[in-house]
Amino acid sequence: MQIHLAPMEGVVNARMRALLTAVGGIDRCITEFVRVTDQLLPPKVFYRLCPELLCGGTTPSGVPVYLQLLGSEPGPLADNAGRAAELGAPGIDLNFGCPAKCVNRHRGGSILLDEPELIYRIVSTIRSTVPKQTPLSVKIRLGYRDRSRFLEVVSAVADAGAQLLTVHARTREDGYTPPAHWHEIAPARRQFSLPIVANGEIWQPTDADQCRVDSGCEDIMLGRGLLSRPDLALHIKTREAGNTYRERTWPEIYPLLYELFLDSLETCAPRHVGGPSKQWLGYLRRNYPEAQQLFEQIKRLRTPEDLQAALLQHQQAA
Ligand SMILES: Cc1cc2nc3c(=O)[nH]c(=O)nc-3n(C[C@H](O)[C@H](O)[C@H](O)COP(=O)(O)O)c2cc1C
Repeated sequence: MQIHLAPMEGVVNARMRALLTAVGGIDRCITEFVRVTDQLLPPKVFYRLCPELLCGGTTPSGVPVYLQLLGSEPGPLADNAGRAAELGAPGIDLNFGCPAKCVNRHRGGSILLDEPELIYRIVSTIRSTVPKQTPLSVKIRLGYRDRSRFLEVVSAVADAGAQLLTVHARTREDGYTPPAHWHEIAPARRQFSLPIVANGEIWQPTDADQCRVDSGCEDIMLGRGLLSRPDLALHIKTREAGNTYRERTWPEIYPLLYELFLDSLETCAPRHVGGPSKQWLGYLRRNYPEAQQLFEQIKRLRTPEDLQAALLQHQQAA
C-alpha cells in the first residue's frame, strides 16, 4: 500500500513536505502547481516551488517529490515537463482537478474534465517528450459539473500512457462538501489496469479502510487529514502491517509546529511570520485540543517577538 501526500497550494510547500515526511508513512509528494501558459519557464520557477530539485528531487527523508503542472496547451506543457525532468524531477504530475474560478476561466484545472480529447492530447504529448524513466501521473476529480464523462477521462489518461492516476472523489461542483464519493472510483478501478490512487476526506485510519473498500484502490492520497494528524500515514501503515500503533500526543507533535515557526522567522517578512503556524494550527486543532487552545492564544498576535514568546510559553507548559 502506498500513501501519497496531497499537493496543497499555499499550505504544503517544501518546508511542510520535509516536516510531514520526517514523521513517516508517506511514499510520494507532489508540489504546488506550476502554471503553464505559452512559455517555457525559467529554471528559477521550478526551484522556487520545488527546492528539493537541488537535493536529488526528494525530501530530506528521501521521499520523491513530483512536480505538478497546470495548463491546457499540450506543446508548452510538454516543454515545461521536459525542463522539470532535465532539472531532476523524479516525476511529473498534471493537475486537472483545480476548482478555482480564476484558473478554470483560463481553461486550466477541472474545467478540462469536460474535454477528454484534450486531456488525451496533453498527456500523450508530454509522455512522448519526457524521458521514459520519468513517471507521469495525473490528478483529477470525478468530473466538472457531473460524473457523466468520468470513465472517458480515465480512458484518455490510460490510453495516453500515464503511469498513475489520482482521483479526488468529488466533482468540481461538489467543491469540498462532504462526503467524498469513494465508491464512484470503483468502476474505473475495475475497467482499467492503470494504477489509481483514491483521495478525499480521509481524516482517520478507519476512513482509509472504508475508502479502500469502497473505491477498490490499494493506494490513497491524504491532504487535510494529514495536516490535522501528522502521524496519520504512519498510523495507517502500522495498522496495515498488523501492528498496534500508539498515536503521537500533542507534546510530540508540537515541536514540528515550532520548527515551522522558526523557518518562518527566517523566510517571511516580519508581519507574515505568524501566517504559516496559524494556518497549520487551523488544521491541527481539529484533532488536538491543545492546538485549539494555542490557536486562541496566538491568533491576534502580530509581531515575531510576541508570537515566539507565546509559543515558548506553550512549550514549557506542555
Ligand atoms: C488549500 C488547498 C490547496 C490545494 N492545492 C492543490 C494543488 O495545488 N494541486 C492539486 O492537485 N490539488 C490541490 N488541492 C486538492 C488536494 O490535493 C486534495 O485533492 C483535496 O484537499 C482532497 O483531499 P483531502 O480531503 O485529503 O484534503 C488543494 C486543496 C486545498 C484544501
